[in-house]
Amino acid sequence: MKKMKIALLGFGNVGRALAQLLIAKREVLREQYQIEWSIVGIATRRHGSVLKPSGIDLEAALSLATADKEISTLAPNNSDIDGVTFVRMSGADVLFENTPVNYQTGQPAIDHITTALELGMHAITANKGPVVHAFDRLAELAQAKGARFLYESTVMDGAPIFSLWQEVLPVAKLHSFRGVLNSTTNLILTLMETEKSFDEALAHTQAIGIAETDPSGDIMGWDSAVKVAALVTVLMGIPLPPDIIKREGIEHISLEDVIKAREEGRRWKLICQAWRDGKGVKASVGPEQIDPNDSLYNVMGTSSAVTFVSDVLGDLTITETNPGPHTTAYGLLADFIRAVR
Ligand SMILES: NC(=O)c1ccc[n+]([C@@H]2O[C@H](COP(=O)([O-])OP(=O)(O)OC[C@H]3O[C@@H](n4cnc5c(N)ncnc54)[C@H](OP(=O)(O)O)[C@@H]3O)[C@@H](O)[C@H]2O)c1
Repeated sequence: MKKMKIALLGFGNVGRALAQLLIAKREVLREQYQIEWSIVGIATRRHGSVLKPSGIDLEAALSLATADKEISTLAPNNSDIDGVTFVRMSGADVLFENTPVNYQTGQPAIDHITTALELGMHAITANKGPVVHAFDRLAELAQAKGARFLYESTVMDGAPIFSLWQEVLPVAKLHSFRGVLNSTTNLILTLMETEKSFDEALAHTQAIGIAETDPSGDIMGWDSAVKVAALVTVLMGIPLPPDIIKREGIEHISLEDVIKAREEGRRWKLICQAWRDGKGVKASVGPEQIDPNDSLYNVMGTSSAVTFVSDVLGDLTITETNPGPHTTAYGLLADFIRAVR
């Protein structure tokens, strides 16, 4: 039996969904995978932090966090500590880094993950920042320390994207991809087709917990650009900073634009794409009107899809219907099993 001590850095929508999934899958992890886990630390920004080597009562932590209460009451002598200190003091075997994404620098998540890997912990994240701003460095550090740096949930939540290319499609070379990768903007555009205003539609995405902490990143195409950068960097092996991707968001799409397109049998989508160009790559994010023949036409609501074109399989499309924190949590759990085995 492998007994894994886990630290949760970030206990918001995703951190809490992961906690629920760990509890739900505790028996199957033990019986089928010979993995036992205990939570030795949870850190947040406004709800305090808790470190307890003997194990934190995760159900109690969930109740407190859901009720918007301090979790630091779960163990004595917990003061406010920064993320890096939390990782150092945790004594964990595995760090889950689920703090908000910083599109510009990837910090402080990069420091959190670097600290974990230096200590020989596996580091697993749904945070795109470290993948696009420090992928090579973190992957090399993980290898040097005999640990894993895994990030399946950074693009299309729990759908297998990175593991598909890394584990299931040997020797395949990715030529290009095209997709709808941002749930918030796709849901907003879908709701606008039912004549909801942009603001009403945005408020709905925030209420159901799919918009980023700062929704402007979704609306202005940053989230999509960062996902394109992550896919290009990892799957094409070409480091691509998100700020050089040609990017346009949906902030200028009006209700009138959406209704007019609907009347003409078309629909607006925020299209993400990248293709090899000689030894380099070209990439863009921007709204397009597409017609019913387009494979992305029926990707509605929070759903996402991506079509990969490779040298061995032609077009391969992955579609994810109605994702949310629970599917993101599944990607993290799958990474956990991958790392521990
Ligand atoms: N939501 C999704 O379905 C989804 C899907 C794919 C990827 N992601 C990624 O997953 C990550 C987490 O998303 P989320 O929706 O769970 O965000 P969230 O609900 O805003 O939760 C973020 C958590 O991080 C904590 N936090 C913020 N800054 C911190 C810091 N400096 N040190 C320690 N803790 C800190 C927050 O503390 P407080 O609780 O005190 O505010 C909160 O617990 C993001 O990077 C996001 O891009 C999310």
